[in-house]
Amino acid sequence: MKNIESSLKESRTYKPNPKFASNSNVTKKQLDDLHKNYQNDSEQFWKDLAINEIKWIKQFETCCSGVAPYYKWFEDGELNVTENCLDRFIGRSKNAIIHISETNDKNIITYDELFVLVNNFSWALQNLGLKKGDRVIIYMPTIPESIIAVLSCARLGLIHSVVFAGFSSESLANRINDCEAKAIITVDGFKRNGKLIQAKKTVDDALALGCKSVLKCIIFKHNGNRIAFNHSQDIWWDEILPNKDKIVCPEKMSSEDLLFILYTSGSTGKPKGIIHSTAGYLLNCIITNKWVFDLKEEDIFWCTADIGWITGHSYVIYGPLATGSTILIYDGAPTYPKPDRFWRIIQDNKVTIFYTAPTAIRTLMKLGENLPDNFNLESLRLLGTVGEPINPKAWVWYQTKIGNSACPIVDTWWQTETGANMIAPLPGVTETIPGTCTQALPGIDALIVDEKGNEINKANQGGYLVIRKPWPSMLRGIWGDKKRYQETYWSKFKNKYYVTGDTARKDKYGNIWIMGRADDVVNISGHRLGTMEIESAIVSHDFVAESAVVSYKHEIKGEAIHAFVTLKDGYSEVNKKELAEKLREWVKTKIGSIAKPDKISFSNALPKTRSGKIMRRLLRNIARGEAISSDTSTLENEDILKQLQNIL
Ligand code: PRX
Repeated sequence: MKNIESSLKESRTYKPNPKFASNSNVTKKQLDDLHKNYQNDSEQFWKDLAINEIKWIKQFETCCSGVAPYYKWFEDGELNVTENCLDRFIGRSKNAIIHISETNDKNIITYDELFVLVNNFSWALQNLGLKKGDRVIIYMPTIPESIIAVLSCARLGLIHSVVFAGFSSESLANRINDCEAKAIITVDGFKRNGKLIQAKKTVDDALALGCKSVLKCIIFKHNGNRIAFNHSQDIWWDEILPNKDKIVCPEKMSSEDLLFILYTSGSTGKPKGIIHSTAGYLLNCIITNKWVFDLKEEDIFWCTADIGWITGHSYVIYGPLATGSTILIYDGAPTYPKPDRFWRIIQDNKVTIFYTAPTAIRTLMKLGENLPDNFNLESLRLLGTVGEPINPKAWVWYQTKIGNSACPIVDTWWQTETGANMIAPLPGVTETIPGTCTQALPGIDALIVDEKGNEINKANQGGYLVIRKPWPSMLRGIWGDKKRYQETYWSKFKNKYYVTGDTARKDKYGNIWIMGRADDVVNISGHRLGTMEIESAIVSHDFVAESAVVSYKHEIKGEAIHAFVTLKDGYSEVNKKELAEKLREWVKTKIGSIAKPDKISFSNALPKTRSGKIMRRLLRNIARGEAISSDTSTLENEDILKQLQNIL
């Protein structure tokens, strides 16, 4: 149970700022009432919210049905998410998107304009013959067109799967094939850190690996770089748009129709296609944007997440737009051209709510602890963090330097699978302590249990973080893999709880402190990766016999990757430094840059049990410079531990 010693010492308490509290969307009394209503009648609680917050085509009768692990929400209702995100806000001349490019071009799109753009692109997709239920891959940076692509899919009932544009061609091909996508939407290229990233080339390389389902590749001309053009399949975005604006009638979607698939890493080599439904997902996005981010008419909300991650889906696209808010998007690197870029964007655009990851905070703090002093950040009124535990030092810096000691910080815990924030403070109400995401939101029945599934009530005793009752935005499964869904999330406690995969403890005030993962998933810079996924990439290299990947604590990234590698016979003489670099590049081409190991160690063997299982726990101890934590007598080759400790 890592992180516990240092976090136990943290007791600085931050009370809600009275000025903020006097005008927050949720008051203490309202929060208490919400909790009470949920305790009294959870069905009625969700029913009321769904009726009030969602614009229905046909209102539902049934609230929640089914049994674990398969639940349905608002099943007999009908809606279209884009009616909720666009149609209901037209005619108000309000800005929907403020886009800042890496080269500092600014483009503002109002709700009215976005409505037209989405309708026209929906018309184009429809014209290509795409139909409700077809899967469409979106492989694009975070620019307005990627949002238009997402919303156009939603308008037609096409199931989108956004793939982070940093993933390699092989990762992309795996995802395309897993969901049998009929179309891909991409860009010619884009700039990151001033460097050209050839997105279309990656798509071509992916398709060359064999993706039979793909009929069309739509390319938005974004950067202007030359691309290879396959006339039987490729089409330019511009060329399929209508000559005159079109209105496309939003597809009537049942609440339980799938809205999207989003791939995330698990503890096996193969990423999981997490599936989300329409109404339930939308509801939790809306309420958390109102409750946790306190979104108001005049806010400019900047969530720095890429749309390739769940945070980009829920807090860049669906949640903010369904609450009629103005979002800011930036498609460049946080340190480009200098580490003050974020602060400059906040100042120049009067951002009011800022939501980012602890890794970004730590990086920017390291690169210029006092840089924010040069900027006027007074527009900010609320700060958020997500993706990994935030260390108190970074939290306090964020609060004082960026938040001018006045902004509440919402440390939001959730997952791709949960769809929306689950455990988080309410900014006008909750007392916060740096490092805890505090308490479950109304409607979320989170608890910590022991190995047998019994609730742990003792303060500071760690256990498994689980969710007892279903909630609307919960994942509906894994695309095409029921067995894996049941085994990964439900079987540990025999369908009694949704198992998050995280370990956590509760302090004496009832605040939840996330301690880490209970499985072979690592969290590098807030990106979730499966160690097995990286291992399979490494062992697919010709020289490699075996590999075991573990993580160790990293000052900036939270966790970093250490790969232990044994080579095939005949390769022991190769230059290890060069090979390590080659393997890092190899992993980049197999998965993407984010999965490149920070350290690679070569040895003759790996520690294994007599039955041949690699003991990753011992490697973790070695990588982290810890004492060996468990009995090593079952090891087949005990000497290997000393050898490994010596080579580090
Ligand atoms: O381990 C938890 C960590 O990120 C995991 C979910 O990763 P992903 O599905 O990629 O979604 C990230 C963005 C929601 C969780 O199982 N995590 C997420 N938020 C926090 C966190 N760990 C600690 N504190 C958080 N606020």
